[in-house]
Amino acid sequence: MYLYGASGHAKVIIDILSAKGIKVDALIDDDVTIDELMSIPVLHQWEGQSPLVVSVGNNISRKQIVERLGSECEYVTAVHPSANISSYARIGAGTVVMQGSTIQSGAQIGRHCIINTNSSIDHECIIDDYVHISPQATLCGNVHVGMGAWIGAATVIIPGVRIGRWSIIGAGSVVVNDIPDGVVAYGNPCQIKSQRIDIASSSYGSSVVKSKKIAIYGAGGLGREVAGGINRINKACNEHWHLVGFYDDSIPVGSLVSHYGQVIGKMDDLNAVDGPLALAIAVGSPTSRKLIHERILNPNIYFPNLIAPSFKVLDPETFKIGQGNIIQNSCSVTCDVTIGDFNVFNGFNVMGHDDVIGDFNVLMPNVHLSGSVTIGDCNLLGVGSIVLQQIKIGDNITLGAGSVLMTKPKDGCTYIGVPAKKFDFK
Ligand SMILES: CC(C)(COP(=O)(O)OP(=O)(O)OC[C@H]1O[C@@H](n2cnc3c(N)ncnc32)[C@H](O)[C@@H]1OP(=O)(O)O)[C@@H](O)C(=O)NCCC(=O)NCCS
Repeated sequence: MYLYGASGHAKVIIDILSAKGIKVDALIDDDVTIDELMSIPVLHQWEGQSPLVVSVGNNISRKQIVERLGSECEYVTAVHPSANISSYARIGAGTVVMQGSTIQSGAQIGRHCIINTNSSIDHECIIDDYVHISPQATLCGNVHVGMGAWIGAATVIIPGVRIGRWSIIGAGSVVVNDIPDGVVAYGNPCQIKSQRIDIASSSYGSSVVKSKKIAIYGAGGLGREVAGGINRINKACNEHWHLVGFYDDSIPVGSLVSHYGQVIGKMDDLNAVDGPLALAIAVGSPTSRKLIHERILNPNIYFPNLIAPSFKVLDPETFKIGQGNIIQNSCSVTCDVTIGDFNVFNGFNVMGHDDVIGDFNVLMPNVHLSGSVTIGDCNLLGVGSIVLQQIKIGDNITLGAGSVLMTKPKDGCTYIGVPAKKFDFK
């Protein structure tokens, strides 16, 4: 039995193995000044010695060593006899479980993790590879800790929370909301304090954290909805966005936007951003969305589609979509649907066959479009409104909530009722 890394962490692992009657034959360490640890010889070259545990506390270094040793090396677990481990839990190779820890039913612990002294991992938690759960940390049920994250001592994470990859949660924190990839967060309630510079700036780090920076223009209600949508996308997909904050010209810089982040600047600041930044325009008025887009002159800003994982496309082969669209929960399209740029689908929108939707339109929740509907630009369709088949809508119309549009409307006018009639504001 061998350990890679002759550190204080190795001393604990030697003790764990000895409690199980396993003798450590030697340690391996790159530091040539260390010759022995607890009377065990330290070698300075790995020459195929197995089985092995990488006994290095730093998560990034542990991963680098495992990658360096390659697939030839056999890894084993080191679990202290005083740990309470459910027979329905799974623990990956190379993982160390220290004295007094509890791992409950259905928990899945990845490879090369450290489950430190007296920590508690409750039912159905998922702990990805290279994670360190520090002493006395308490993870309630169904928590997911992403690869390489470090959970500080005595931290509490409430049920169902997701911790992003390679993030650090400071000692004593109480985590009540999801934490994105690659950040340092701490406190009660736990809040994001900074991005991990060591991860972001190193070439190794950039390969382990694949999240892309995104900001939201608009710190109002739609901005918060879009932020929540980004969290859901991060949970469900391989795509990982790191929300850096909100831009808004009418809300002071530094204002908190719920638990999602802060207002970090105005339009001028956005136009001065000097690296690639994805942006979602989260403003509900179609014409304002268009004007805001026209004022963004910075070529570093790009506009991804933010599509809720629940979006259903009956026929992906015939579905076309541009850029900058926001598609919220439970929307669906059937076949031969074309969507342009910068539209907002606010949830539960249904679009039938051959619908063609232009740019900068906003469809409030539960808008239903029948088949072969054509919509131009900058239209606002109110909550629960319906457009009947083959109707052609031009530009800048407003359709009142609950209305049913049965005839072609005139550009720039408002239509209300069932059937929808032109409404003249006096
Ligand atoms: C979160 C952490 C990584 C931040 O480290 P850091 O970037 O070096 O931060 P600093 O020590 O420079 O502190 C910066 C500020 O944050 C505060 N701070 C740091 N950690 C904090 C924590 N866990 N909770 C609350 N505040 C914290 C400091 O008081 C300081 O505040 P100030 O600017 O008002 O003086 C570190 O403090 C931490 O908690 N590490 C986990 C340790 C652990 O659990 N080890 C287990 C080993 S088995």
